[in-house]
Parts: sequence; structure tokens; C-alpha cells
Amino acid sequence: MAFVVTDNCIACKYTDCVAVCPADAFHEGPNFLAINPDDCIDCDLCVPECPANAIFQEDELPAGQEQFLELNAELAQLWPKITEVIAPLSDADKLNGLPHKIDQLIVE
Ligand code: SF4
Ligand code: F3S
Repeated sequence: MAFVVTDNCIACKYTDCVAVCPADAFHEGPNFLAINPDDCIDCDLCVPECPANAIFQEDELPAGQEQFLELNAELAQLWPKITEVIAPLSDADKLNGLPHKIDQLIVE
């Protein structure tokens, strides 16, 4: 079992989550963070830290967010680990809560 970062992280990337993760499970892309399911120890510590309420346990994903299970696993392989908090993206507060930001996800 692992936790999963979902749509509302996209274009916000607050990174408060990484400060509490005891497993260094987060990986950083240009405008999204992904959790490596092989590293996540299912501790739940990151969930209340996220200002975007974007993190869920894999078996409690909200409707429409199921694709993020696979996406986290894939992107964690592609992107480097992030272990320290950095500044959120500049429009984070403006875009926090906007639905369906998956179209803005940058994969590189
Ligand atoms: Fe890290 Fe725990 Fe969140 Fe998994 S549930 S990503 S181990 S803080
Ligand atoms: Fe994303 Fe929330 Fe972490 S917005 S970077 S999952 S604190």
C-alpha cells in the first residue's frame, strides 16, 4: 500500500509534504511531485501537510483520480528525489482547487 499525489498538486507544488516524509519517497518534476510506491511506508504523515489536499491512500482515491496511481509510479522512476522544501510555484495559491489540472502536467 502506498500514498498517491493527485491532480491538485499540479501547478501548485507546495512541497510541504517532503519535510515530513521519513522514507524520502517524493520525486520532483517541473510542476508536480510523485510518490515512489516502493519507498512509501504508508505512514500518513504527508496527508495533513499538503495545503492542496492532494495526497490520498491508494485505495481511497477520489473518483476520477485513479489514473494517478499508475502515474506516481511511472513519474517517480523518471524524476529525481526531493527531500527539502522549496518555494511553491508562483501561481500556486491561484490554482489551488482548480479541477482537472492534469492537462497542465509537464512530463520531462
Ligand atoms: Fe512519505 Fe509517509 Fe507520505 Fe508515504 S505516507 S509518502 S512514507 S510521508
Ligand atoms: Fe504537491 Fe501538496 Fe506536496 S501540493 S508538492 S503534494 S504539499
